[in-house]
Amino acid sequence: MNNSFKKVSESQTILTELMIPTYSNFGGKIHGGILLSLMDKVAYVTASKHYGGYCVTVAVDGVEFINPVEVGQLLSLKSSINYVGKSSMIVGIRVEAMYPKTGIISHTNSSYFTMVAKNDLNETDIVPGLILENENEIRRFYEGLNLKFMSKQKRDMLKSDFSHLSVNEIKNLLLNENCKVSF
Ligand SMILES: CC(C)(COP(=O)(O)OP(=O)(O)OC[C@H]1O[C@@H](n2cnc3c(N)ncnc32)[C@H](O)[C@@H]1OP(=O)(O)O)[C@@H](O)C(=O)NCCC(=O)NCCS
Repeated sequence: MNNSFKKVSESQTILTELMIPTYSNFGGKIHGGILLSLMDKVAYVTASKHYGGYCVTVAVDGVEFINPVEVGQLLSLKSSINYVGKSSMIVGIRVEAMYPKTGIISHTNSSYFTMVAKNDLNETDIVPGLILENENEIRRFYEGLNLKFMSKQKRDMLKSDFSHLSVNEIKNLLLNENCKVSF
């Protein structure tokens, strides 16, 4: 049982990486997968600092790339623990890209990684509570609590298989969609 509490600032992390040509796609922009991998890395660092041990990535929310990232930009991933439950932690990550020459910063995306603490037996483990020291931290904690609730609802919804609808009923629901039923 973990009865300790930690401050958000104790695990806050910034990871900065130069975007090199091997990270780019045929269009010359950085692969989304490279960004996801860097986000997963910074989420792990932040969560394992808060827990004090090994963590696994369980879910990713809010991955929407607002602006493309270009070769030559410096990418900064700023992460902090927004919410903790019993064994889960929601890590908020703000990704920003900057050209070193101009210093102009663009916001690439903000995402939320749910990480779960695991002990040496690979069982879920209790994480320290969070000390909330300002209004932002209280707001983020409450947003995290709601995100946990909403993502559970989304998971339950994705489990529905719509088998209660006949194929003809589904066909009618697809009339204005970009598809053609050919049977
Ligand atoms: C996710 C996992 C830990 C759930 O294990 P479990 O025994 O079912 O545990 P629980 O249902 O008690 O869930 C543990 C916590 O995870 C959270 N959780 C479980 N599934 C979740 C999901 N799909 N999305 C978000 N949170 C989830 C629960 O809300 C709970 O949080 P809390 O302890 O803070 O209340 C387990 O399925 C696992 O280890 N998955 C593999 C993760 C992994 O290896 N990731 C690396 C990918 S390569």
